[in-house]
Amino acid sequence: AAPTRHEAETSPAVCVGTVDSNWAGFSGSGFCNGANSTSGYVQFTVTAANAGTATLGVRFANGTTTARPAGLVVNGATVQTVSFEGTGTWDAWTTKTLTVNVNAGSNTIRLSPTTATGLANVDYLEF
Ligand code: GCU
Repeated sequence: AAPTRHEAETSPAVCVGTVDSNWAGFSGSGFCNGANSTSGYVQFTVTAANAGTATLGVRFANGTTTARPAGLVVNGATVQTVSFEGTGTWDAWTTKTLTVNVNAGSNTIRLSPTTATGLANVDYLEF
């Protein structure tokens, strides 16, 4: 099936930081600017028809020249660390494709930054 777009600024997504709209090119009404801290996460809740391997896409922008790595936390367990590299400018959005294992039904997917600079700006998750 075609993926569903889950906007970072729309419940049930949680943005620990601010929902901003000051950089062009975002989808929906804004994006999550996570707090510049390891505590500034974004979390999505997605529904899987079946348990098993699933592909997800994270659209982000990082206007710095330093990666903003984040743990990919699925249902509370960190399954990998993802490098959200610099994209050139804050309005240059790119989508990173990731593969995860999910449960049938509801799953939480959190991006939890590993450095004090916090997250890249996150526009949405497609699942
Ligand atoms: C700038 C930019 C924000 C970004 C922030 C950051 O303030 O305008 O969109 O989130 O840098 O470094 O995280």
